[in-house]
Amino acid sequence: MVSAAAFCLLALVAFYVVRSVRIFCSLRRFGGHWSVGWSRLWLLRTQGSGQMHKRFTEVNNKYGSTARIGPSMLITTDPSLIRHMNAVCSPFTRGRWYSCLKLHPERENIVSLVDERKHTELRNRMIPGYSGRENQHLEQDVDTQLLKFFELINKKYVAVPESGIFRTIDLSRATSFFTLDTISQIAFGHTFGFLERDEDPFGYLENLEQFLPALIVFGVYTELSKILQMPLLKSALPKSTDKRGLGRAMGFARERVQERFGEKPVVRNDMLGSFIHRGLTQGELESETLTQITAGSDSTASSLRMTLHFICTTPPVRERLLGEVENAIGAGQITRPVIKDAEARELPYLQACIKEGLRLYPPITGLLAKLVPQTGCVINVDGVDKFVPGETQIAWNPWGVMRNSKIFGGDCEIFRPERWLPIDGSNSERDRVARMTETVLLCFGTGRFGCLGRGVALMELNKAVIEVSVEICWRDICA
Ligand code: HEM
Repeated sequence: MVSAAAFCLLALVAFYVVRSVRIFCSLRRFGGHWSVGWSRLWLLRTQGSGQMHKRFTEVNNKYGSTARIGPSMLITTDPSLIRHMNAVCSPFTRGRWYSCLKLHPERENIVSLVDERKHTELRNRMIPGYSGRENQHLEQDVDTQLLKFFELINKKYVAVPESGIFRTIDLSRATSFFTLDTISQIAFGHTFGFLERDEDPFGYLENLEQFLPALIVFGVYTELSKILQMPLLKSALPKSTDKRGLGRAMGFARERVQERFGEKPVVRNDMLGSFIHRGLTQGELESETLTQITAGSDSTASSLRMTLHFICTTPPVRERLLGEVENAIGAGQITRPVIKDAEARELPYLQACIKEGLRLYPPITGLLAKLVPQTGCVINVDGVDKFVPGETQIAWNPWGVMRNSKIFGGDCEIFRPERWLPIDGSNSERDRVARMTETVLLCFGTGRFGCLGRGVALMELNKAVIEVSVEICWRDICA
């Protein structure tokens, strides 16, 4: 009896060792930290360190543009590989990593769906709503929220030095309030009321921060997501009946969806209206509205706050940007009180500042790992062809992509919007700027997984970067 048990144990250990050695060898041609071929602990520790973007970039700088970060996980800074994996006819699919983006306890959403057919079908039905074609109020809704943002600044944060009154605004929180109210307004015609109250009314942001470490763990140990289906753990997940946090946001989304159905349905030409028109079910809508809030708020807020930070703390940039807008106002080229999206796109220095902000601080740094097809594939790493076996996941490293000195220049570590302005009209200058532009836009993803909210995000940035700069700099609110 004992020897049978010992034999089973030995067989299990032998199986585990053989499997581990096989996995270790499968990617041994890719360099990386010594432990990553054997365990995922380095990956977990790195992702939880708060310095993940820098550590991954160190790995790519040291071991090559595609390097190993886990037993079956690579990470790349190669723009052409990222484009290839995302391309419409590519054999790569979303990897297991995406399962950690399932926010609703029962339902998948467009960001977490791994099944190719279901994802494409859902995406096609959602494109018109996100594009603004079926959302007549989009630009006006962004303007309304921006004006509320200024109302808040004027009411509470304007300094009166002659009376000895000096105030500071926490732009980090205020930009989140702005993007959260904007996304809820354009998505379903209601705001959460962050800007009106100048607070996080139901602890959403606080709860999101608590939730992120769990997301990291589930992204690394994807098999754990199965245990979330167990009744005891499921009951601990956010629910639409919760009074606070993510659950309250789910409840809010659910209420907005319910209003559109029933006896006296609310009819509105917004994103939700478009999705209903395209046949999304009530259940699908509840899950997608929650995704809109999470996908569309923190990302845009990050780039807005970082771009404003760089502008406010770089006096020559600030002066040049304000000079550009002053001239344009003088020439009657800018609508007041809020610039039109189309007008903002015509201001070269503003566009340079926005692109430089997105470059220096790409807002989405999650792994977004794609899965190598079953048959495996050969990828070129810095001139050397290497075989990658099927089932390997390849993550992206946007921080590293955006700090490629061959693309962005030797001073790529600093905020210098001037790099986006061609020095002359030569073809080489045009190609240099075009190459930088197509690379920076990778921060929105690309191809069949590209960000559906890119137009909305850029509209928010086009308006808010310039108008908030004007509001706080001309009023001397920023130091
Ligand atoms: C600066 C702001 C933003 C950035 C940098 C950004 C970036 C991204 C990235 C990297 C992806 C994932 C691509 C992949 O899976 O490979 C994505 C997907 C997505 N984003 Fe954004 N995003 C931003 C703002 C927004 C906004 C405002 C919305 C909503 C209005 C939005 C909605 C979505 C949706 C629905 C997807 C899923 C697309 C799909 O799976 O087909 N995003 N975004």
